[in-house]
Amino acid sequence: MVPGTSNCIPVMPEPKLASFSDLSPAEDDFLGDVIAGLSASPKSLPCKYFYDAHGSKLFDQICELPEYYPTRTETALMREKAGEMAAVIGPGVQVLEYGCGSIEKVRVLLDALEEPASYIAVDISREHLRAAAENLAHDYPALQVHALCTDFSQDFDIPEGIPGERRVAFFPGSTIGNFETQAAAAFLKRIAAHVGKGGGLLIGADRKKDEAVLYDAYNDSAGVTADFNLNLLTRINNELGGDFDLSAFTHDAPYNVEDGRIEMFLISSRDQVVKLGNRMFEFAAGERIHTENSHKYEIEEFQDLARNAGFAPKQVWSDAAALFSVHYFEVE
Ligand code: AVI
Repeated sequence: MVPGTSNCIPVMPEPKLASFSDLSPAEDDFLGDVIAGLSASPKSLPCKYFYDAHGSKLFDQICELPEYYPTRTETALMREKAGEMAAVIGPGVQVLEYGCGSIEKVRVLLDALEEPASYIAVDISREHLRAAAENLAHDYPALQVHALCTDFSQDFDIPEGIPGERRVAFFPGSTIGNFETQAAAAFLKRIAAHVGKGGGLLIGADRKKDEAVLYDAYNDSAGVTADFNLNLLTRINNELGGDFDLSAFTHDAPYNVEDGRIEMFLISSRDQVVKLGNRMFEFAAGERIHTENSHKYEIEEFQDLARNAGFAPKQVWSDAAALFSVHYFEVE
């Protein structure tokens, strides 16, 4: 008898629950971006490179820190106010989420909405997106789930034929704060075009507040945000063959009052030369690499930004300590 042929129960492949479209987003040019950033004056590195597997784990740890209030405040707001949010959004909608990650945050909204018709998950991370969309589809059998692999910071078209009376975009996490003001305005315009007339946008935005609270949130006592920031240099060493000495750079994230944003830096603690392939980058003692901006918005300020993009404010929710806001807008 051929081994494995008797008493075999044929294993059928699991049926696909979510549909999938792949817009084949361009690969990142990590080396080109690092060379450009370190050759510029002042030096900078793009914040999108924080999120390799280790950086994403560090970010999850940041979200649990006592000083880092945004995630827990937004989560609590969503839990407490999901019913009100669902009431203003209305029944039968198609929910479109930009940068959905593990597709966890939207669940509290989907649970509250009246008969949502479909959910479109947009993310650049192909296999993670596929798995997360399948999980959601499994847990929400009445919902049509579509995964769209693309870079949401670039222009893209939304596939047709996915049900829903109106489209409502969801962009939580205050990720909009990591966009430059001009880029945030341009992105909001693209969302308005995606959802069309009568469509909506539910979006989280971190508020301006006491500077000490802001400073502590980005300069935590356990040093997790410092590790998150320094992980950029680790990535350059590991993936591009750089020779950054991590002990010769420190983290700082001051609040810039004039620009209303936390600015994150890696600061060279001595004069030094860093090699990357056949290139050399000189650092003076105290010289900074600018790695991230995190813009903070007053409620009215954010409403003005959205108004300029074609949205009308419909409702806004905030916590008792006025730390964070979740806005609902519609295109009229
Ligand atoms: C992802 N983003 C909203 C975070 C923020 O607060 O700007 C990234 C972050 N950077 C340092 N801590 C958290």
